[in-house]
Amino acid sequence: MLDYNKGKKVVDYMIQVLFVCLGNICRSPMAEAVFRDLVVKNNLQDKIRVDSSGTGNWHTGEPPHSGTREVLDREKISYKGIKARQVSKNDWDDFDYIIAMDDQNIKDLRKLNPQESNIVIAKLMDFVEEAKENNVPDPYYTGDFDYTYELVLEGCSNLLSHIKQKHSM
Ligand code: 4NP
Repeated sequence: MLDYNKGKKVVDYMIQVLFVCLGNICRSPMAEAVFRDLVVKNNLQDKIRVDSSGTGNWHTGEPPHSGTREVLDREKISYKGIKARQVSKNDWDDFDYIIAMDDQNIKDLRKLNPQESNIVIAKLMDFVEEAKENNVPDPYYTGDFDYTYELVLEGCSNLLSHIKQKHSM
């Protein structure tokens, strides 16, 4: 498996991307792992930092859900070091892209920080044209981690293409 960002200082990155869901154990850690795998495969690990967080705090410190781990193990995508944390207002200072999984996440983010800023706050499915879903379904409730993975992979691939083009990488 590919290693990622060993010992690099947070301030050195050109672009920082934060994925957000509700619990930070199913969808956003899946997106974090998938996106950082794509970043490493594109040799952009010195330019792009990836993290994830939840709007809720129930699972702080926990590793990804077993369903997310199963999918990532099958796809040979590392989730090393990924632990749940709650999103904080300070994240607006660090991140260039805050990418949510669904409309409720966006509402909760706006509630946490209603101020206008230059950073991109969007949903992952906004990066997929004619997407099958506008929101990434929550497998904590649906139990379908494979379908969530399919959507997350498509969204993350398109998001990386967008960032590469926008920031001339
Ligand atoms: P996630 O799924 O937002 O994709 O991590 C959830 C995980 C846990 C809970 C809700 C959603 N929960 O209520 O504990």
